[in-house]
Amino acid sequence: MTTPFQNPRLRQRGRASVDFLAGMAAASGPVRASVDAAIAEKVPSPDALPDNLDERLVHMDAALADCPAWPVQQLLGDWHGRMHGRISAEAFEEVEDDLAPLFKAAEQGPATLRLDPAMKAPDYWDGVHFHRTTGGWEGHANMGYIHGEIIHKKLVGRFFPGGIFQQRRDVAAMAPRETYKRILDMGCSSGHFTTALTETYPQAQIVGVDLSARMLEHAWRTANANGWNWQLSQQAAEATDFEDASFDLVASYIILHEMPADAIRKVFAEAFRLLEPGGDLLMSDVTRYEDMDKLAVWKADRGAMFGGEPHWRESASLDLEAVAREAGFVDVTSSGPYPYVIQGRKTEA
Ligand SMILES: C[S@@+](CC[C@H](N)C(=O)[O-])C[C@H]1O[C@@H](n2cnc3c(N)ncnc32)[C@H](O)[C@@H]1O
Repeated sequence: MTTPFQNPRLRQRGRASVDFLAGMAAASGPVRASVDAAIAEKVPSPDALPDNLDERLVHMDAALADCPAWPVQQLLGDWHGRMHGRISAEAFEEVEDDLAPLFKAAEQGPATLRLDPAMKAPDYWDGVHFHRTTGGWEGHANMGYIHGEIIHKKLVGRFFPGGIFQQRRDVAAMAPRETYKRILDMGCSSGHFTTALTETYPQAQIVGVDLSARMLEHAWRTANANGWNWQLSQQAAEATDFEDASFDLVASYIILHEMPADAIRKVFAEAFRLLEPGGDLLMSDVTRYEDMDKLAVWKADRGAMFGGEPHWRESASLDLEAVAREAGFVDVTSSGPYPYVIQGRKTEA
């Protein structure tokens, strides 16, 4: 469901800029095809590529040194990485005044928002320009709206076959029970997976945490505009202030690749603490490197390294099934490739 507050109609300039960005990504297909052809010629045995990921990057750069399409592909990727946040913010600013009354109205409603201006955000997140957007998740006073409604709905959503919102609904539906009482969405961001959880389990009380005040503000307004009673708070997923055993489902959608391995282990331990006995775990993230061939890992790793994803390699290399078991979960299973979903259960007392 989309309320008038969501998915804004952009002005012509903003719409053209966003369309250009999206169109350029689509139009770069022939460049990618040329690079892929060069790779097939220069790297006939991908299994023989270096195991070490840094050495693999160097090896591939050398292999593609005389491929004319390779610097073009890098230039396009670099431009897209640097510009998508700025272009989306400018498109938003053109319609900001029109949206102001809708923002105001969406501050009334059943959802609650608890921000913590004194919160000490973890170093792995604070000041990091995730996705190469200046200031990362906090890079604009309305970053939640810009990311949730423009970047996700008018850019990213166009590139992903099957749809980024359907992916979230599919993951939400993987939890084993028909109904839940109280669900925690860790790293709820602007509320897209939270929405899928609400739609899948309409009778559950939905609770969301995120480090980003800007993202939470948009999630809060979205919930109010839709009449949902989400309880949102600004806190680290690995150290929340909720009581032990206060949820029957703890879930997350694609936050783990934004954390180093140590923080991920703490997130799973916190999920275990927060679940009641018999409660379910439903975490999802990017494709595991061990499930990809060496070339696919190189592409993902390079994209992450130059795309503002400083923790991706460490996270995607982690055995999340082992992490879940170490945290105490039983009946641990996983499925993939994307999103990679890991499930488990806290044993009955
Ligand atoms: C890729 S987004 C998550 C996407 C979101 N679940 C959705 O469905 O659109 C990553 C989010 O995780 C948040 N985040 C990263 N580390 C976190 C942590 N330790 N605790 C809480 N939130 C965190 C970021 O602020 C960001 O909003």
